[in-house]
Amino acid sequence: MDKRAGILEELKKRQGEYVSGECLSSRFGISRTAVWKYIAGLRKAGHLIDASTKKGYRLTRAADVISESQIRKGLKTAILGKRIYCFDSLDSTNSFAKKIALEGCQEGTVVIADAQTSGRGRLGRNWHSQPGKGIWMSVVLRPELAPRDMQIVTLGASVAVAAALEKVMGIRAGIKWPNDVILNGRKVCGILSEMSSEPDRIHFVVLGIGLNVSHREGDFPPELRDTAGSLASYLESAGEEERRKLVYPFPDRNVIIITILFELEKIYSKIKNNSIEDILSRWKEYSVTIGRKVKIFGKDGGFTGRAIDITRAGELVVRCEDGTVKTVLSGEVSLRGI
Ligand code: BTN
Repeated sequence: MDKRAGILEELKKRQGEYVSGECLSSRFGISRTAVWKYIAGLRKAGHLIDASTKKGYRLTRAADVISESQIRKGLKTAILGKRIYCFDSLDSTNSFAKKIALEGCQEGTVVIADAQTSGRGRLGRNWHSQPGKGIWMSVVLRPELAPRDMQIVTLGASVAVAAALEKVMGIRAGIKWPNDVILNGRKVCGILSEMSSEPDRIHFVVLGIGLNVSHREGDFPPELRDTAGSLASYLESAGEEERRKLVYPFPDRNVIIITILFELEKIYSKIKNNSIEDILSRWKEYSVTIGRKVKIFGKDGGFTGRAIDITRAGELVVRCEDGTVKTVLSGEVSLRGI
């Protein structure tokens, strides 16, 4: 752990109490001036630290800073997160993860960035990834699956995110096919999985998760304001009754990341054991698509119908208005009446 992170840990351990500059300087073998410089750096990163010439330094509120050491401390996984890369900024965590996957990185490697300058979404869209506001994370997996079965990994990831939100915040999210996580009708999380494969075998999957955490309405670009949401905007809009069910305090991003990785590993072990039905039935419990009237937009035009099921391969089964039944593997679905 570097000295700056060490000083922060020390202040956290004694949160609410002053720790003298002298104590910090002898604990970390640095001068009092160096302690002051590290404190200035921590303040710049958003931590609120009181300073008193007589008493020393006191942490009044830690910033929500993504920290590899914090994640590592809380992580209870065997495969995911053995190697974690944390960046202040990247073009796209998926692009970086793909690059290291091609170079042979370990399965379960996690790449996180506080900001993305060219975050990518499904269907060739951009993903708005403001600094400090969300979780922009990619995980490298090497499942023993045929490429046609890959959709289960993506569906499973949306279940992991929904389960994590339930665990850390008491929030019951919905999943819109295939893998958008929805709160109060707004998309708070999207998943982009990209794979490298040969006809019968996947080499690797990069699972990219984008979760909006602390955006307020004005933080989204105008074109997303009617459809995008975040955990914070959901909490702000929640009614009295809903708030009573929620878990306080608002968890920091490290805790959310730890929990998503934990839930994702549980799902991934089901994929490894071929317990696909378990994943599908959990997906259906969260689904806001099954049973609804839907409009499907695909490469060859669109059609409307009622979503009635999901197949083992993750295709949406839709009964069209003329009674025929179609399956859809990719595309965009709009839920009518939501
Ligand atoms: C979607 O369009 O719904 C998928 C959005 C996926 C965004 C995430 S953010 C982390 C990872 N890196 C990217 O460039 N995209 C994914």
